[in-house]
Amino acid sequence: MLVVDNLVSYYANIKILNEISFNLNQGQVLCLLGRNGAGKTTILKSIMGLVDHTNGLILFNDEKLSGVSAHFIPKKGIGYVPQGRRLFSELTVEENLEIGLLTRKKGEKTKEKILNMFPKLKERINQISGTLSGGEQQMLALARALCIEPNLLLLDEPTEGLQPSMISLIRNSILELKKQGVSILLVEQRVEAILPVADEVIIIENGSKIFSASSKEFKNKATLKKIYGFIGL
Ligand SMILES: Nc1ncnc2c1ncn2[C@@H]1O[C@H](COP(=O)(O)OP(=O)(O)OP(=O)(O)O)[C@@H](O)[C@H]1O
Ligand SMILES: [Mg+2]
Repeated sequence: MLVVDNLVSYYANIKILNEISFNLNQGQVLCLLGRNGAGKTTILKSIMGLVDHTNGLILFNDEKLSGVSAHFIPKKGIGYVPQGRRLFSELTVEENLEIGLLTRKKGEKTKEKILNMFPKLKERINQISGTLSGGEQQMLALARALCIEPNLLLLDEPTEGLQPSMISLIRNSILELKKQGVSILLVEQRVEAILPVADEVIIIENGSKIFSASSKEFKNKATLKKIYGFIGL
């Protein structure tokens, strides 16, 4: 459903990504790992049309995304939770969700379904989102991305700064979405937190894909040691 083929991305005229290729199938979770500055966020931004200049091909359900304006990409059913959440912090939980719903003209039914997934947000529906805890804000960012009823979800370090109980909530949400057939492209630094839900893992280093394996292979101890050492864990 998502094909990234020989993606090269530039900021100004500086080349950041070197011929990145991968496929993501329906209902699969693909995890991108790598050091700070490796280019993980740039891959997600390239898919969302947020990088000025890219070469190569990005296909979503056989439709070319390269060259499509950033404004239209969420309308195609691609949800994005950027690194650092980026909520409208002055607005309430409900208002943040309403903005999400507008993108693909979804209504009350979608909102109810999402709030049932995140009961904590339901309790805090009228709270100003900037006053939510870090974990609750991450929930809201995820909930807002789900307002478009995405077929593909891009999550940039969803567990960043969260304590174990919140991480397991995020992990359960990913599993639930996967069950519903949503494909997920996930950036993570914490291998052990996310490995249980990933189908495949790719390592990015200096803008290049240097390693890919099924998560089963990653669970192999020798490989894990190599990878953990590699990303400095
Ligand atoms: N808007 C920008 N303009 C110029 N260079 C940028 C821009 N955004 C990112 N870069 C550079 O591109 C490279 C890749 O950045 P990117 O944010 O993709 O890394 P990352 O793997 O997501 O890192 P982190 O784990 O720290 O989030 C870095 O060297 C970064 O400085
Ligand atoms: Mg990043």
